[in-house]
Amino acid sequence: MTDKATLEYNGQKYEFPVIKGSEDELAIDIKTLRSATGGITTIDPGYKNTGSCSSAITFLDGEKGILRYRGYSIEELAEKADFLEVAYLLIFGELPNKEQLVKFHADIKEESHVDEEMKKILDSFPKSAHPMGVLSSLTSALIAFNPSTVDVSSEKAMYHAIVRILAKFPVLVAWTMRKKKGLPLDYGDDSLGYVENIHKMMFKKPTQTYQKNEIVIEALDKLLILHADHEQNCSTSTVRIVGSSHAGLFASLSAGISALWGPLHGGANQAVLEMLEAIEADGGDTKKYMAKAKDKSDPFRLMGFGHRVYKNFDPRAKIIKVAADEVLADLGIEDPILEIAKGLEKEALEDQYFVDRKLYPNVDFYSGIIYRALGIPTEMFTVMFALGRLPGWIAQWREMRLNNEPIGRPRQVYTGANSRGFVEVDQR
Ligand code: ACO
Repeated sequence: MTDKATLEYNGQKYEFPVIKGSEDELAIDIKTLRSATGGITTIDPGYKNTGSCSSAITFLDGEKGILRYRGYSIEELAEKADFLEVAYLLIFGELPNKEQLVKFHADIKEESHVDEEMKKILDSFPKSAHPMGVLSSLTSALIAFNPSTVDVSSEKAMYHAIVRILAKFPVLVAWTMRKKKGLPLDYGDDSLGYVENIHKMMFKKPTQTYQKNEIVIEALDKLLILHADHEQNCSTSTVRIVGSSHAGLFASLSAGISALWGPLHGGANQAVLEMLEAIEADGGDTKKYMAKAKDKSDPFRLMGFGHRVYKNFDPRAKIIKVAADEVLADLGIEDPILEIAKGLEKEALEDQYFVDRKLYPNVDFYSGIIYRALGIPTEMFTVMFALGRLPGWIAQWREMRLNNEPIGRPRQVYTGANSRGFVEVDQR
C-alpha cells in the first residue's frame, strides 16, 4: 500500500502524504494543499471528513461502537475506576497510583473554596436564568479571581490551574442548582469522595445531615465517567480552538460550556425530557411521535436518537441503561415519563426508518432519565454533562498547548457579491 495520495486537477497531479493513526486509521495530510496548488482549498461543512488535530487521548470507532480513554475501554473504566481516576488518566495520560491519586485529591480539596464575591455575581442572575448561561458566566468570572493564563512551559503552573478548576467547578455547578431550587449556597466536606462531595453540595438540605446513597453515587460516578471525553466533538473543538489563540484555560472552558448548551449537542438530554413531557401532555401516544419523526415535512426529531459518529449502539448508552434500571429500582420510582421512554426505545429499535439510518438511543436518552429520578431539575441536565466533560476539555486543552498547535483558523469558499462600487444612501 502506498503512503501517498494523488490528487489530479486540471491535468496536474499533486501528491500528499497519508498518515496512519495508532488504530490504523488513515488520513491524507493536506497541510501543503494551498501552497502546492496555488490556492485551492477543501470544503467540508460540519467537518464530517476533516481531522482537526492528532490526539492521543480518546479513541472511538462509531461503526463498531468502541470508545476508549487512553487505551482503556469505557466498559472497563465505568466498572472498575472512579471519576477522579479517570480525570487523572485523561489529563495526564496514565492511571494514577495510590499515592498520586491521594495527592491529586488533596490538592483539589486545598482549592475547593470559591471567592465569596462570586456569590454576588450569581445573585444578580434571575432565578429563571438558564443554568448553562449561569455556569458559563461564572466560569468566565472565575478568571477575575484566579487568573488562568498559564505558563505552559511550567508543569507546576499547568498542574495548579487544572487542580483549581477541578476543585471550583463542582462548587459552581452546585451553587447554580441551589440557586435554581432556592437553597442556601453551601460548601462541600473534605472527608467525602470527589463525587460524593458533589452530591452533597448539590442536595444537602439546610435542616438535615447529608445521607449517602451508594447506588446513586455509583450511578453519578458512572455518568460522569461516560461523559468525560469524546474526542473532537463540538464543545471540545471549541475549547481547543479558543485555547489555540492562547486564551486562558477558564476562558476556553467557558466557551466549551456555551457550545455544549445547544440541543444538538449536550442540550439533547434536556430536550429528551422536554420531548417526553410533551408526549405525555399530548396523551402519551408514542406512535404519533414516531410518525412525526419520520415525516420529512415535519421538523420534529426524536431527541436522544442518532449520533454524528455512532452508527451503531452508543457503548455509553448500553452501560447507562443498566445504571438507569438500578437507580429506578432502588429509588422505587414509577414515572409515566419513563414508560413513554421505554415505549419509544422499543418502537424505534424495531422501526425500519431508524434501523436503515442506524439511529440508536444515545447516552443522552438514558442520562436524562437518571437525572430526573435523582431530582435534578431538567434545565440542569446539560450542566451535569459539563461537569462530566470537564476533565476531557482540560485534557484536550493541555494536549493542544503542549503540542504547540497553531491558532485554529479555517478557510472558506466565498460565494458573495463580486467587487462593486459604493452607492450613496440617497441613490439606493
Ligand atoms: N429523529 C428522526 N430522524 C433522524 C434523527 C432523529 N433523532 N436523527 C437523524 N435522523 C435522520 C435524518 O433526518 C436523516 O434522514 P435522511 O437521510 O432521510 O435525510 C438521517 O437520519 C441522517 O441524519 P443527519 O442529521 O444527517 O445525521 P447527523 O450525523 O448529521 O446528525 C444528530 C446527528 C445531530 C445527533 C441527529 O441524529 C439528531 O439531531 N439527533 C437528535 C438530537 C440528539 O439526540 N443529539 C444528541 C447527540 S449526542 C451528544 O451530543 C452527546
